[in-house]
Amino acid sequence: MAKKIRVGIIGVGNCFAGLIQGIEYYKKHKDKKPVGLMHTKIGPYSFSDIEFVSAFDVGANKIGKTLDKAVFVYPNLVKWVKLPKSKVIVKEAPVLDGVGIYVENRIKPLKNPTPIEELRKEIEKEIRKSKTEVLVNYLPVGSQKATEFWAEIALKTKTAMVNCLPAFIASNKNWAERFRKARVPIIGDDIKGQIGATIVHRVLARLCDERGTTIDKTYQINVGGNTDFLNMLERARLESKKISKTEAVTSQIHKDVKSDKIYIGPSDFVPFLGNTKLAFMRIEGRMFADVPYSLELRLDVDDKANSGGIVIDAIRCAKLARDRKLAGYIPVSSYFMKHPLIQKTDDEARKIVENFINNKK
Ligand SMILES: NC(=O)c1ccc[n+]([C@@H]2O[C@H](COP(=O)([O-])OP(=O)(O)OC[C@H]3O[C@@H](n4cnc5c(N)ncnc54)[C@H](O)[C@@H]3O)[C@@H](O)[C@H]2O)c1
Repeated sequence: MAKKIRVGIIGVGNCFAGLIQGIEYYKKHKDKKPVGLMHTKIGPYSFSDIEFVSAFDVGANKIGKTLDKAVFVYPNLVKWVKLPKSKVIVKEAPVLDGVGIYVENRIKPLKNPTPIEELRKEIEKEIRKSKTEVLVNYLPVGSQKATEFWAEIALKTKTAMVNCLPAFIASNKNWAERFRKARVPIIGDDIKGQIGATIVHRVLARLCDERGTTIDKTYQINVGGNTDFLNMLERARLESKKISKTEAVTSQIHKDVKSDKIYIGPSDFVPFLGNTKLAFMRIEGRMFADVPYSLELRLDVDDKANSGGIVIDAIRCAKLARDRKLAGYIPVSSYFMKHPLIQKTDDEARKIVENFINNKK
């Protein structure tokens, strides 16, 4: 029987609600062809080998609840399937810079939080007791300090990390080196959706570039109606997200696009959209004989199915890295993440993933 993957969750929000319900969906429909999975197996691991064994949040309405209940608590919006009873209780995490001004009244952090050093000890104890092997970081955009707190926890407890947000850890040379020295694998940063705005924009930009045209201007505007988008209304929290999304596209174009001719970023919160994310893209350029062309695209997609479709593979690769005693930055990040340490084309990155799974250099 295949071994299980013991996963801990930092931030029991909408993305996690999608991941856990997606896994349950596949378990419930075992007889059907598993639509939407990029890999039914990664090494010996099937989607059903992922077990959630620890979870941490700051929301007063989530802490103390079992995981199967906490994922349905407001402001989470994913309601795809019912979940079986879980024994895992959501534990308190330190707030640090995790909660922005626009989402505070929805997340409702504990009024009397436990002092941080006490929490650190309790968290380390919980991770060891639950034998967590892979920590998945789903903190809100702008949580640099909180992410660093959890990176320290991963190093101390020797737990692999999958960093789903644009707080730069895996893509920061110093942090990557610390993970390597501690013999702990890390995959990051900022999850790239299955058919998200980033991958679509990257592939289109690369196409225009490879076909010999010059891209003069491009934009990508994203809107959505969940707490992720509400949080990103706070522009000061957005800097790393814009860097991550912009570099993901510019890395695919050979000729420089002037910085005032490119705009890529989350742009507004439209409450009634819920988890629907709309992305609007435009590329303007010049082709043969300097003749101008333009293309426009509108993407309409469920934001949480989009991230779950990738995280399910990133977790299995993190576990595989652990099994093989690999440490530090894991190159599969180029495929799964918007802001890896090393940007590749998506074709190259996919080959890296396939070679990694098949244990080829
Ligand atoms: N397609 C995608 O959905 C996608 C793609 C790339 C990156 N991401 C990133 O993934 C992250 C998670 O997204 P989401 O939609 O689940 O967000 P969310 O707002 O629904 O969930 C965040 C959760 O973190 C909790 N939290 C806040 N501060 C915390 C702290 N200090 N410690 C522990 N928990 C804390 C909140 O209570 C909430 O449960 C975001 O940063 C998002 O930008 C998502």
